[in-house]
Amino acid sequence: EKGGYDHFMLKEIHEQPSAIRDTYRGRMLVKEGIIRMAGVDDNIEKFINANRIIIVACGTSWHAGLVAEYIFEDIARIPVEVEYASEFRYRNPVITNKDVVIAISQSGETADTLAAIKLAKANGAFVFGVCNVVGSSIARETHAGAYTHAGPEIGVASTKAFTTQITVLTLIALKLAKVKGEISNSNYRYHLQELELIPEKVQKALESDEHIKTVANIYKNARNCLYLGRGYNFPVALEGALKLKEISYIHAEGYPAAEMKHGPIALIDENMPIVVIATKKGHYEKVVSNIEEIKARQGKIIGIVTEGDTNVKRLADHVIEVPETLESLSPLLTTIPLQLLSYHIAVMLDKNVDQPRNLAKSVTVE
Ligand code: F6R
Repeated sequence: EKGGYDHFMLKEIHEQPSAIRDTYRGRMLVKEGIIRMAGVDDNIEKFINANRIIIVACGTSWHAGLVAEYIFEDIARIPVEVEYASEFRYRNPVITNKDVVIAISQSGETADTLAAIKLAKANGAFVFGVCNVVGSSIARETHAGAYTHAGPEIGVASTKAFTTQITVLTLIALKLAKVKGEISNSNYRYHLQELELIPEKVQKALESDEHIKTVANIYKNARNCLYLGRGYNFPVALEGALKLKEISYIHAEGYPAAEMKHGPIALIDENMPIVVIATKKGHYEKVVSNIEEIKARQGKIIGIVTEGDTNVKRLADHVIEVPETLESLSPLLTTIPLQLLSYHIAVMLDKNVDQPRNLAKSVTVE
């Protein structure tokens, strides 16, 4: 049942190339330049006329929502707010019938997300679901939706659900950008071609596994860990930190790299490992200067870099390479080494990777 892997989590990490491919297959026709998704196509006016999109979710799904915020605003030019479902539902939010609410949930059973959907519906919003479990409560409660085709996710720590959620949301953003005329035809086509290449690039990223294991072995006894990223990779930093916390029980925090000097920099000393996402596209120079600031304070730097990078390599204690892609698609690749790093650390610490203490796969109580 674990397909020869020691844990479901590892199996599910390795399933990502096929899970992402299954998620865009039949929806993205690269040669024709078409994205078709029934749930979006049937409600295209609602999306196009929306004043804004509000994304509600919890945990890792909330992180996928944050990535989506960057791409929806960047290429489709639609204002987006991303909300923790638990906060949204209890703070008397302003919701109108000009709002589109997107609820993201792997299980489709998360109590707070379900309650947020009911509240949004009661206030006249159009509610769209991005779920993995077919026929789940959230899939049934939403007006329309698009499933992620990740297959069953058994490990409590979410991995392939996250990357397939980003895949679905990217398809929606591209579709809306095209329909609204916000993206040139050539740029749109280029995005489709690059998205089609993501599964093989994820496969390539997975090949760093042995190297990541050696890095994991060096830092497995750390008490704390920081994750930094900017732009599209800021939510990936949050997700990397969550993965480490939940399965290895090492305290970790994700931060936008530029926020470091507003507080967390005080934590940096020779005992602090800092994972910095420093891929070539998107604020690269700025991230490199953040790395220099960390180095000046003796922090240990693990850089997630684009293949062939030399700048960060010169400064960092370790680098882990991922293939080059568009900035907007880079979270699909930079997430991979962070998943593997957490996995190996948790295994080395002899933790219960698939069923971490105190956690349940679906949180059906608030
Ligand atoms: C993290 C994790 C949780 C879930 C969260 C939402 O690895 O598993 O943070 O992401 O409980 O769950 P879903 O997506 O099922 O609504």
